[in-house]
Amino acid sequence: MEELLKELSKRAEEEILKAKSLQEIESLRVKYLGKKGELTQILRGMGSLSPEERPVIGQLANDVREKIENMILERREKIAKEEKERKIKEEYIDITMPGKPYKYGHKHPITLVMDEIKRIFLGLGFSIAEGPEVELAYYNFEALNTPEDHPARDLQDTFYITSDILLRTQTSPVQVRTMEKTKPPIRVISPGRVYRSDDIDATHSPVFHQMEGLVVDEGITMGDLKGVLNVFAKKFFGESTRTKFRPHFFPFTEPSAEMDVSCFACGGKGCRVCGYTGWIEILGAGMVHPNVLRMSGIDPEKYTGFAFGLGIDRIAMLKYGIEDLRLLFENDMRFIEQF
Ligand code: DAH
Repeated sequence: MEELLKELSKRAEEEILKAKSLQEIESLRVKYLGKKGELTQILRGMGSLSPEERPVIGQLANDVREKIENMILERREKIAKEEKERKIKEEYIDITMPGKPYKYGHKHPITLVMDEIKRIFLGLGFSIAEGPEVELAYYNFEALNTPEDHPARDLQDTFYITSDILLRTQTSPVQVRTMEKTKPPIRVISPGRVYRSDDIDATHSPVFHQMEGLVVDEGITMGDLKGVLNVFAKKFFGESTRTKFRPHFFPFTEPSAEMDVSCFACGGKGCRVCGYTGWIEILGAGMVHPNVLRMSGIDPEKYTGFAFGLGIDRIAMLKYGIEDLRLLFENDMRFIEQF
């Protein structure tokens, strides 16, 4: 029996030292010290011992039990400590680590161009006027001296909602809305989206952007128009920029003109950007037609005015060397982030 107890003690010691988890320890405790454990099994045989042997074996058995109990206790503490340390290590937060960088929003090239143009005109004393994108045909056409049979009114060019309501094809209706509401002197610009029933390709989109300009006061002349637009061209494209006004036709201005700027890429020598002409067309303009003033409630005998309309998308493409208009509408961040 003594042998059995010593063997048991040794085996228990080895196994306990090898245990790696609290669970393992617990099952070893049951295995050796439990009610049906090995120690109990051995002690069952006590009855067959002689009275002299009994206290000796009894003492030994108690020692073995105590030893195993202590070992289990120790091992358990050690494992618990290790587990705690492992957990602490695992959950350690390095507060000196740099944070994740925020991804900031990014201005679209159209917005950049609009902001820059607005800045220039605000600096010249203009303010910003707004008008609806879903517009009455009256403001988009009639009030702009564009009669019923004008080709621009064709279904092919205009998105009609009803026969009277449409998506504005130009920012020019804001001129009329402004003149109806405000007495001269008027000095406004009006940037915004416009719509035309065009198929999408590298230079056409059913939605694009314009910026309208309108000045009405006593004694406004074509000289004022040229002066203001020259200042704008130099501020936007660079001080050495020259301008050229070509006669043109718009129903709502008389006389009308288109303005070209000397090519900012080649300075006018001729290159790919300007199609080897040295000039780039950027806007339409003219003196506000007396009919338009009259219909908007302004006396054309007393007041005169000039107006202009810029194509924002085209200017953005020229300025940033963008070759396909569609890129401006796809909103691919890889593209937008380049500006
Ligand atoms: N609304 C014209 C267009 O979409 C552009 C324009 C031309 C506006 C002359 C004007 C202007 O104000 O005077 O083609």
